[in-house]
Formats: sequence, C-alpha cells, structure tokens
Amino acid sequence: MSEHPLCTQAVVLVGGEGTRLRPITSRVPKPVAPVVERPFITYVLDLLARHGVQRVIFSSGFLASAIETECGDGLQYGIAVEHVVESEPLGTAGAIKNVQSRLDDGPLFALNGDVLTDVDLGALARLHKEKAAMATIFLTPVEDPRRYGLVCVRPDASVSSFVEKPGNEHSGGGLINAGVYVLEPPVLEMIPAGRMFSIERGVFPKLAQAGSLFAFVGAAYWRDIGTPESYLQAHFDILEGALKTAVADELGPGYVHVSSSARVAATARIVPPSYVADGAEVGAGAQVGPLAVIGAGASVGEGATVVESVVQAGARVGAHASVEGSVLVRDSWVGAGTQVSHAILGEACRVGAGNRLANGICLHPGVELPDNSVQFRDVEQSGEGR
Ligand code: GTP
Repeated sequence: MSEHPLCTQAVVLVGGEGTRLRPITSRVPKPVAPVVERPFITYVLDLLARHGVQRVIFSSGFLASAIETECGDGLQYGIAVEHVVESEPLGTAGAIKNVQSRLDDGPLFALNGDVLTDVDLGALARLHKEKAAMATIFLTPVEDPRRYGLVCVRPDASVSSFVEKPGNEHSGGGLINAGVYVLEPPVLEMIPAGRMFSIERGVFPKLAQAGSLFAFVGAAYWRDIGTPESYLQAHFDILEGALKTAVADELGPGYVHVSSSARVAATARIVPPSYVADGAEVGAGAQVGPLAVIGAGASVGEGATVVESVVQAGARVGAHASVEGSVLVRDSWVGAGTQVSHAILGEACRVGAGNRLANGICLHPGVELPDNSVQFRDVEQSGEGR
C-alpha cells in the first residue's frame, strides 16, 4: 500500500442480475457467489483495502440483502462499507450518480463488482493525477473483445476512441475496458439523475472526444467472473496462485489446503492444486484434483473423482461418480456412478445414479433426475432465463 493513497473512496457496482452466470446466480447474487469458499466480493474488498481505500459504497439492487448480510459495515474486512439499494436498475453510470451524496469531493475509484484482479490501484491513481485526467480506465488485453468495450490509446496514454461491445465488425485481440476506473467529481455532473445511464456509452466516448479520458495498461491479472466458464477459470487461477489472494496464503507452497476439520480417507488422493474446506469428506480411493474445490461439509464418495471442478458447500458426489469441468452448486447431489462433464448443477439438484451429463448442460435449482434417466445430451438446457 502506498503511504499516502491518492484516492480513498470507492463505488462498487453490484446491482446486476448476473443472468449469464445462472444457475450459479439463481439464488445468490454474483458478488456473494463463492469463489474458492469465499464470497466473491471479499476479493474486491481485499484489493481496495490493500491500496488504502477507506470507504466503499456498494451500489446494489438484485438480491441486495444478501450482499448486505455478507459484508455488513465492512469492519471484518478493515474497510467502511455502506450500502445503497436501487429501486430499479440505473445502469453503470446511473448507479454511481445515485450515490453521489455519499461521496466526498475527491476522486473516486469505481469498479464493476464482478472483476477479479490484482491491478495496482495506486499506480492507476498516480497516472490519473499525473495526466490531470477527468477519468482514467484500467485496460487489459483480451483475444476476443466483442463482449467488452474496446479502447484505442495514443502514445501519451490518452484514449482516442471507446467502442462499447464492438460486435463482429472487430476481429482479433485488443485492449478492453476492465471495469476499474478513477473518476473526478465533475464526471458525475455528466450523468442524469434517477434514470438508466451507461458510463460506457454515455460518458467515456464524450470524455475521449474532449481529450480528458486516459488509460492505464498494466500487466495485472484480470478476469470477470460473469460466465460459468470464467467463474470456473477464476477458481483455477486462484488455486494456481496466478494472483495474490488470501487463498494463496492458505494453500502454501504445496498448492493444497485440506482443512483440519475435513475427513479424508487414507487411500484418497488430493492432487494439487486443490482446496478441501471445513468439514468436507473424501472417501476411500477417491481422487480430488487437480484444480478442485470441495466446499464446507461437501462429500466425495468412495472411488469418486472430482477434477477441474467446484463442489460447493453441502454438495454430495456419490460413490464411483466422476465430476469434471463442472460446478455443483450448494446442496446438489450426484448419485453413485453418475458422470458429470462440463455441466452446472443448480442449488439442491438431485441427479440419481447411473446418469451421464455433459456438454454444457445446466440444471435449474431443485431439478431432480431419477436413476439411469439421462445419457449425455438427453436433457435440454434448463437454467432459469436460458
Ligand atoms: P449479466 O446479466 O450476466 O450481463 O450480468 P450483470 O447484470 O452483472 O451485468 P454486467 O456483467 O454487465 O455488469 C457489470 C457490473 O456492473 C456487475 O458488477 C453488475 O452487478 C453491475 N451492474 C450492472 N448493471 C447495474 C445497474 O443497473 N445498477 C448497479 N448498481 N449495478 C449494475
């Protein structure tokens, strides 16, 4: 942390419905979805606290009470947290405008609440000050920028153009808006109050035209957890220590954490990197990992395999079942001998014995499949909103 942080307040946008992450977000908001057994938003709070941010305002909407229950006043994270709940979604700029009365008259960080990163916020704020910018955006390179905001930068770090979701007219890689900014207070005067307004469409292009939008391109780790694939990959990256997190400290040099309250049979194998949480059980001859998370109180039956997957708290994998490239949301069950490959099981699903699920199948929370009823693609995708 720098000794005199230039920016000590932050607005974190956590009001979205997270539709692309269903059924993982069918019953919990994206910021509270567990990532290696911690509510995702705690990674964001850790980042802000590490860089000297003292006050965070959460701009929430969808399932706001779950975020408030999880983070409270932020004391346990060493940062003062306030919650402002929108009665209707105001978009990425409207949501910042909506909390204006809570901000002091200095610059502020604004972050999308679904971004996992170890970006140097101090360096971002220093560039912002040095350039006397109105807004400075953290940019990150991606191979396919189509679902992001594509940004072109001049040699002096000023932004020459900002194109939100460029679509198919753009092929090849590019630098995208990573959803982390520093804003000066006058930027908030560009945003109408009380209605839906997008910072990407309504603010950044105008600032770019005026020459007062700058870009910070760091070599930081960055990923948004907005899709099942990126949610799973975020787990893998944390397990592999691709960025500094509290989990990396727990894993240690062997890249394995097995809670002292977990019960792991002597003949089970925990292959690094892997994380086995409190009260989890792993049966005789089972294999967990590489790249597996077994949540609190979850169980992996005798002879079962869990590879490159997340088995959330309270979920159960039956004897000799196999789970690969998949997420079992909390309290879901997989019967004996069932094979689950590249699938998402919503909360409290019950999949009987002898089934085979694969190829991106997503099951709604609470779906029940009898024994021997499904072989590979027999089930159509049934996640809410799909
Ligand atoms: P999808 O429905 O899957 O697109 O996810 P999302 O609703 O989270 O939208 P998106 O990923 O584009 O949002 C980026 C960040 O902005 C997330 O952290 C959202 O919670 C947040 N966000 C999006 N729209 C709003 C809004 O209207 N109000 C607030 N407060 N936050 C928002």
